[in-house]
Amino acid sequence: MKVNGTTKIYGIMGNPVSHSLSPAMHNAAFQAQDLNKVYVAFEVTDVARALDGFRALGIGGISVTIPHKQSVITHLDTIDPVAKKIGAVNTLLIEDAHIRGYNTDWIGANQALKPIVDLPAATVLLLGAGGAARAIGFGLQEKGATVILANRTVEKGQALARDLNCEFHPLADLKDLKVDALVNATSIGMTPNVEETPVAKAFLKHIPAVMDIVYSPQETRLLREAKQVGCKTVDGRYMLLYQGVAQFELWTGRKAPVDIMREKLFSQLDSS
Ligand code: ATR
Repeated sequence: MKVNGTTKIYGIMGNPVSHSLSPAMHNAAFQAQDLNKVYVAFEVTDVARALDGFRALGIGGISVTIPHKQSVITHLDTIDPVAKKIGAVNTLLIEDAHIRGYNTDWIGANQALKPIVDLPAATVLLLGAGGAARAIGFGLQEKGATVILANRTVEKGQALARDLNCEFHPLADLKDLKVDALVNATSIGMTPNVEETPVAKAFLKHIPAVMDIVYSPQETRLLREAKQVGCKTVDGRYMLLYQGVAQFELWTGRKAPVDIMREKLFSQLDSS
């Protein structure tokens, strides 16, 4: 990597941020396309001052992660309409000190689902009611899909279902629903709770496609059982990859080197 007087700086802001895999993925992409750009990690506590710093220093773009995805919104100059609906921003595009906020999590989820679901025509059972489910739910609707929501905590699920204007079921009381895909947007099954799974194996029998957003382990119990009953599956690494791909494309206006980003991200995940 060569850094010189015209190198443009990009980065991720979060707290903590030292374990982020985004620097490796984005720097690999910049290098693959011979772009004079570098991507670093910023551990941020004061969001307002950080954004002023980004403006003042001519930073090109920023990934936003926990715990700043919601609080950053009040400090933006403009916001993308879908990000506004979701109420969370994971990407900043900074041009002439003007900061515009986007959400690429939903784009990442839709892209990850593409090989296994025909989205505009699909009915998707979405599990969860946290930030991830919210982004994925609005994103699916953006693509024209019908969302059915399920969550453990009924009040929380009903609140998101109201915002999405969609059907809701308690997770513990899922009837046989006719859906084209199931997306787990809860943290059920994540390391170290690898023996947990959100739905019974038998429930998966009539669902053609299953995506899990949990990426550690790579194959969750949900995905293992889904494969056993013949579902097409996508693991959580792909949403992570494609939200980054969408960020690269916003920042550069170019098609991202997806293969390079995938290789870098997946090998980092394997060794982390
Ligand atoms: P994020 O912002 O990453 O989506 P979150 O806001 O903490 O994270 O949301 C986590 C989601 O996983 C919630 O839907 C949560 O269900 P509740 O609303 O009932 O808390 C769900 N979740 C996490 N662990 C769970 C478990 N063991 N069983 C059922 N649902 C679980």
